[in-house]
Amino acid sequence: MSSCLSGKHIVLGISGGIAAYKSVYLLRLLVKAGAEVQVVITPNGKEFITPVTLSSLSGNPVISEFFTANTGEWHSHVDIGQWADLMVIAPATASTIAKMANGVADNMLITTYLSAKEHVMVAPAMDLDMWAHPATQRNIATLRADGVDIIEPGSGELASHLCGKGRMEEPEKIVEAIEEYFRSEEAPLPLAGKKVMITAGPTYEAIDPVRFIGNHSSGKMGFALARECRRLGADTVVVAGPVNKSLTPEGVRRVDVVTAREMLAACEAEFEDTDICIFAAAVADYAPAECAERKIKRENVEEMDLRLVRNPDIAATLGKRKGERTMIGFALESDHGQENACRKLKAKNFDWIVLNSLSDEGACFNTDTNKVTVFGADSSSVSFPLESKDKVAKDIMNVIVAGLL
Ligand code: CTP
Repeated sequence: MSSCLSGKHIVLGISGGIAAYKSVYLLRLLVKAGAEVQVVITPNGKEFITPVTLSSLSGNPVISEFFTANTGEWHSHVDIGQWADLMVIAPATASTIAKMANGVADNMLITTYLSAKEHVMVAPAMDLDMWAHPATQRNIATLRADGVDIIEPGSGELASHLCGKGRMEEPEKIVEAIEEYFRSEEAPLPLAGKKVMITAGPTYEAIDPVRFIGNHSSGKMGFALARECRRLGADTVVVAGPVNKSLTPEGVRRVDVVTAREMLAACEAEFEDTDICIFAAAVADYAPAECAERKIKRENVEEMDLRLVRNPDIAATLGKRKGERTMIGFALESDHGQENACRKLKAKNFDWIVLNSLSDEGACFNTDTNKVTVFGADSSSVSFPLESKDKVAKDIMNVIVAGLL
């Protein structure tokens, strides 16, 4: 059977980490599947694996420098970037990831990345503390927002002999991810021609000009869903509470709001031509009855009552006008998860509800992971393990797309 990699032009970027030895197997697998591979290696990468091995296996000279020293011949990263159907960087060290995220074009691999016209995938490899460091996670989030696919590292023994997350994914799995990418590129996009509206993040309800009632929602789940909907071909708009601007994926429209009332108004303005609505926002259920015009001072005030009034329920309000649309809600529950989720599914007229339980470690606000069960109005349910929010978004959208067919 011929592979979907046959005849594909793949740039394999290799940066300087122990896992570079695995890139040799990855290269072999890609060539065996019929791909034409151009290796671009960083100067540090060459300390771990020799260009001779790589050029023998790829059948192409390995590119590392901007010029060939003895002839002065210029290697055009622009040409390589345009030639590629896909660029895969494996291993991607913390330093290479940081340079990619910030456009630090000081080697051939990064200049090629910046010139790449097609999709880019990255298989990180580093020690567990480096992977977990907020700086690395910030850079990974930036790459995701730039449309780069991250092939999550696995857990296990690392080159440092420590055990944890940071091992580069196995070459066979990377090839599977590459094949999945090309297959999805060739298949008709299941949400082409559809408009998806997603609410995301918290809402803030002002008490006075400097204080508010809010919550810890980061908006990451909503934006991960937006990225997936965009990838599936949908015209995607996120109505977002106050969350990080860098979360917005390429090709996704974003409407910023602060309060629940503003979120409802923005959703109503987008609602008419939507086909799918996903309510992932953690909307504040109550708002102060009034917002003080000036900062409330504490002198001579021993106790204070704050009168709260109920906010509109955005999902329930639009659920009443649902028509032919598909609607998906979220439920974050501390107990009686299934019972509460299914009650909300009915009450708000959802087709699906995604339950995340506060008792599951790693499945909460402000994490990069989530663990969910999706319940359908037809009483179906499907549970997923603890995964990155990107993977959870793919799983949720697979369920929804299958239900639309
Ligand atoms: N939701 C909404 N507007 C609100 C409250 C909730 O659109 N004012 C949506 C959420 O985005 C989510 C679903 O309704 O998709 C359920 O939200 P949740 O906060 O779990 O439920 P509530 O109805 O607020 O109930 P409670 O907080 O009492 O559990």
